[in-house]
Amino acid sequence: MVRMASVDEFLYSCGLEVLHPGGLRKTDEMARACGIGKGKRVLDVGCGKGVTACYLAQKYDCYVVGIDVSERMIEYARELARMKGLEDKVNFRVADAHNLPFEDNSFDIVIAECTTVLLDKERAFREFIRVLKPGGHIGDLEMMWRREPPKELVQRAYEVWEGFQTMTLKEWKGFFEKLGLVNIIAVDFTDEIPDMGRAFVKELGVVGLTKFLCKLVLRPDVLKAMLEYMEIFRKYKDYIGYCYVIGQKPA
Ligand SMILES: C[S@@+](CC[C@H](N)C(=O)[O-])C[C@H]1O[C@@H](n2cnc3c(N)ncnc32)[C@H](O)[C@@H]1O
Repeated sequence: MVRMASVDEFLYSCGLEVLHPGGLRKTDEMARACGIGKGKRVLDVGCGKGVTACYLAQKYDCYVVGIDVSERMIEYARELARMKGLEDKVNFRVADAHNLPFEDNSFDIVIAECTTVLLDKERAFREFIRVLKPGGHIGDLEMMWRREPPKELVQRAYEVWEGFQTMTLKEWKGFFEKLGLVNIIAVDFTDEIPDMGRAFVKELGVVGLTKFLCKLVLRPDVLKAMLEYMEIFRKYKDYIGYCYVIGQKPA
């Protein structure tokens, strides 16, 4: 099976901007609920191609650091910042979310999008809280289980998406509480994305979709992986949902 990182890269190369459900519209909603604004220091964990970081820095005149474990993603992100003339507002570096290269209490906001489902959540969130200033917010936008999933789905998602593990919204909320975060907001926006396949096609647009189909002919490994992903979304659509969860580090 092709590595997920290769599929991510393939999708980005077809023009897909972000790899999380709801796109920048949901990013914006979550960031506003985290109190984003001028001059805030934001950390984007698993920043991918840097689109969220550049978007937030430009829109809110804040300072965003993006980290990703993939060197290739960080190259993309730096190039995007350069093209947008945002080099003084964003900074990208290769780093592991489980071991953040930042001082304690450095950021006003830590966000993650479609990334913590791939991490050791206990370790990663302890790091997020460590680097967050007292009173700062964590916002995490992820795929969730709408209800208790069958074991076969948990197993298949874990294998296909390389360690993927998520929770129900109630469990996510409980997890944030257990970490000592306060003023927790948990938003289920599954109903806004009734069909992941369609949302994907819409996000790509006509040019992106044409590119995607042409390139796919040359990448049977990616095609196989994409078919497997779509099969999971189709077969288990009643179990798969999308949410963001926000919590505040006590002041
Ligand atoms: C599904 S992509 C989401 C990218 C971006 N947040 C977005 O929404 O477009 C997940 C990202 O997490 C990164 N990632 C995976 N494990 C990581 C880790 N341990 N530390 C930092 N980044 C990681 C991957 O390289 C990838 O770019």
